[in-house]
This record gives sequence, C-alpha cells and structure tokens, in this order.
Amino acid sequence: MADKIIIFDTTLRDGEQSPGASMTREEKLRIAKQLERLGVDVIEAGFAAASNGDFESVKAIAEAIQDSTVCSLSRANDRDISRAAEALAGARSKRIHTFIATSPLHMESKLRMTPEQVYEQARMAVRFARKFTDNVEFSPEDGSRSEVDFLCRVIEGVIDEGATTINIADTVGYAVPELFADLISTLRQRIPNSDKAIWSVHCHNDLGMAVANSLAGVRAGARQIECTINGLGERAGNTALEEVVMALRTRRDFFDLEVGIDTTQIVPASRLVSGITGFVVQPNKAVVGANAFAHASGIHQDGVLKQRSTYEIMRAEDVGWAANKIVLGKLSGRNAFKQRLQELGISLDSEEEVNAAFQRFKDLADGKADIFDEDIHALVSDRTVHHEKQEYVRLVSMGQSSEMGESPLARVTLWIDGQEETHECSGNGPVDATLKAIEAMVPSGAEMTLYSVNAISGGTEAQGEVTVRLAKGGRIVNGVGADPDIIVASAKAYISALNRLHSKSERVNPQIGTP
Ligand code: KIV
Ligand code: ZN
Repeated sequence: MADKIIIFDTTLRDGEQSPGASMTREEKLRIAKQLERLGVDVIEAGFAAASNGDFESVKAIAEAIQDSTVCSLSRANDRDISRAAEALAGARSKRIHTFIATSPLHMESKLRMTPEQVYEQARMAVRFARKFTDNVEFSPEDGSRSEVDFLCRVIEGVIDEGATTINIADTVGYAVPELFADLISTLRQRIPNSDKAIWSVHCHNDLGMAVANSLAGVRAGARQIECTINGLGERAGNTALEEVVMALRTRRDFFDLEVGIDTTQIVPASRLVSGITGFVVQPNKAVVGANAFAHASGIHQDGVLKQRSTYEIMRAEDVGWAANKIVLGKLSGRNAFKQRLQELGISLDSEEEVNAAFQRFKDLADGKADIFDEDIHALVSDRTVHHEKQEYVRLVSMGQSSEMGESPLARVTLWIDGQEETHECSGNGPVDATLKAIEAMVPSGAEMTLYSVNAISGGTEAQGEVTVRLAKGGRIVNGVGADPDIIVASAKAYISALNRLHSKSERVNPQIGTP
C-alpha cells in the first residue's frame, strides 16, 4: 500500500501572520470546520500564548473539531508550552508544536544565544511538551540555512526527548528543490534515531518554490507537508495546500503516495479563506484561480470540446468548482437557512443573531434569485450592520447622487459608539465620496494601501466583494464587505477595517524575539 502524506494546515497560524490577515475567533472556527470537511490531518489552530484572544480561538477549535488533530504552536519555553497544553485540553486529538531557530544568523542576531544554549533549550522544550501529550512536533526554524552538523545534533536530541514529528523549516524561502531534498536525505541518513519520527517540510514561497521544495522533500522521505489554503502566509506565503494536494493526486503515477483530502472541498475552502481574510486569489492561480479551468483560447476550447484531456489534467468538479451550487432562494424558510448554516459549520451565538442573518438573507434573496454558499458566508461575515457589541462603528444608512460629468455627493449615517451621526461629502466618484464621509465622522488618519472589488459569484446580479487594506502606525488591517451594491460593499469594507483598527488586540509574533 502507498504511504500516506499527512497534510498539516497552518492557515490559522502561519497564514494569520500575514499582515492584515488577522481573524476573529468565530471566523477561525468557520475555517477550522471547513478544514475538517476538507479532511486535513492536522489543523494548526494558532499560537495560544500570543494573546488571550488567540488562546480562546485555539481552545474553541480544539473543542469543536472531531476528525482532525488540533495543534498549537509554542516557542521553546515552559510558559508557551503550558498555554498551548491548556488551550488544547479539550481536543479529541492534540499536538504541541514547539520550535527554536538553529541557523547561525538567527541564533546570533535574533536569539542572542549560543548553539549550546539552543541545543539545551530545544531538548528541554520537547521534554516539557511530552508531559502534556505524546504527539509533539519540533521545528528547527531557518532549518534550511542551518549548519548540517548542528542540525543533526539538535534533531537527534529532540527525538531522544520524544519528539514525534521533525519539521524542517525553510523559513525565508531560500531553498531550491534539489538542495532541500539533499538536506532531508542527509538528515534522515545521518541521525541515528531518525526513524523514530515522521519527517515534515514547511516551505515559504519567497522565490516561488514552496510547492516544488515541499514535493522534493517528500521525494526525499518527508511524510508531512505543512501548507495553507491559497498559500496564505508571511511575505510571499507558504506552500499552497491546493497545489501540493493536486500535484500528489494528479501525478500519483510518479509520487505513489496517498492523501486523505476530499478535493471537492478545495474551492469552497479557498473562497472561505479569501472572503474572511480579504486576500483575493489571483485569477491565474493554480487550481483555485477563476481562470484555472477557463479555456479562453479558441484552439484550446476546440480541443477540450473534442476530448477534455487534451488540455485539462484535472477536472474542475474534482476540486469543487461544481460545489458552487445554488443552495437557497427567495422561498427558502428560516429552517432551511438555519440548516444550511449548520452544514457550513456556521454557529451564530444567539437566536437573535440567526434572525438578523435570516433577515439579511431575505433582503438579498429579494434581488438575487440564486443564493450560493459564498453569499451565505458573506452575509454572516457582515459585521458592519448587525448588532455586535464589540463593533465601534456600524453602518445605519447611506445613499448618493451622481450625474455623469458631475461630482457625486454621498450621505452616510453611522452608529458610532452608541450615537448616530450623519455626514455628507462629495468626492471623485461615489465610492470616494462615501469613504470620505465615513472618514470625516471616524477620522482614522490611516493610509489605504489596497482597494479591490470582486464578484462573489458570476453575473451582474452577483454580490460585489470589496477588500480595503488600511495601514497606520505599523499596523495593517483588512476589511471585507459584500453587497449587491458595490458602493455599499465599499462602505462595509471600510467600516470593517476601521473596527479592526480600533480593536487594540495586539498579538505576539512567535518568530520575533526570544524563544
Ligand atoms: O517558517 C517557520 O519557520 C515557521 C516555524 C514556526 C515552523 O513558521
Ligand atoms: Zn512559517
């Protein structure tokens, strides 16, 4: 029987470390449920010691997930490990993932520790983590730029202490496939107890080689791949789950390895993550891009019509494009809506919230005949209009008047920290006028570094999904808003970003500073 590749998804941890991708507990839970449906073996739910919010998210995911192992990252210290263990206590299957940097550069300049101290700390961390679970992963951070002799010594030590997975991190995306495969082979051959652990790869995409490096690692004996949906992650991101999984599956003739992923859940997962984080998928992105299966050129279309396999190596329906089905419509009742929420893993806190979401669904269905899963995700994500206690600003009403060749005028009413306020502004187009009116009432002084509009599903009646990215004082936040009216969607996105900027929740980046 072919070996199985363990798919370790770190969208909720490494993915969330991308500036602007921070998610609420409820959003993380929805993604975790989708990852479970996808059949991911391990979900890295977060870095529990980062903040109380992160702790609560890991805890909630640990308690909700049944079919995947839930993991928390922790630096190589007792406090982080205890926090991870505490957050994971309710998990049916749990893993603690601890790490420390092993490259000369990171040890000297970042950790300011000697190799001996790093060696001892790594061993101590794994020994301590084993007190809470027998499923412990250890990562030598910046492993691909570490000295091989030292790496062998550290890894042998942590396996002796009981590490069950060894994850070689190409933290800065520096590796090239042949060299990375050599590194994995060398380590596996030279470390006497290497067969006591499962080998894993964690690659970043700075040179666009994360997927190639991961697959090279697999050819050299790695049996776990760490990856994220849409390749989300710090800087240029991580190995894209959809790409490695489809490469292993489509080229099974070459890799001869099993993956336990339900590939039909890939596109829904991609949509969910991009909708929540505001990180839009480029149209020509492999597997999940809008053009991935679109045959624009006449020659290709002709070939595909005659015989599909002439130009298609995968089937769109196998990765879930067909899963984009009509689920509800104007006549669907509250029970059908509630049941669909359940099937999508969306749990709203109270009946009041269900009612409010159902009302938004009805309003949407009045103007749009077919309601897709994506529409439902978008309307429950919509925090700008429903009564969330933690929201500082909410949209009450808005409108604009514009005539061709004239400067449009926007009028916006907001609920700001308990009080209603209205403002009118003109601008260079209705979106500009609307956002200026909002900014006049809630002055943020933030710089807008991104504004993008996407159609959630095809056709002109589709909801527009707007992403706004704001930067201020070193913080970056994304706001997403959806509505059939793209000016309303823009206002919602802007307000969502303002609320995120206003919530002071700061988290510690696990990879910056001391262990
Ligand atoms: O990139 C990296 O080194 C990491 C580790 C924490 C595994 O994300
Ligand atoms: Zn990483």
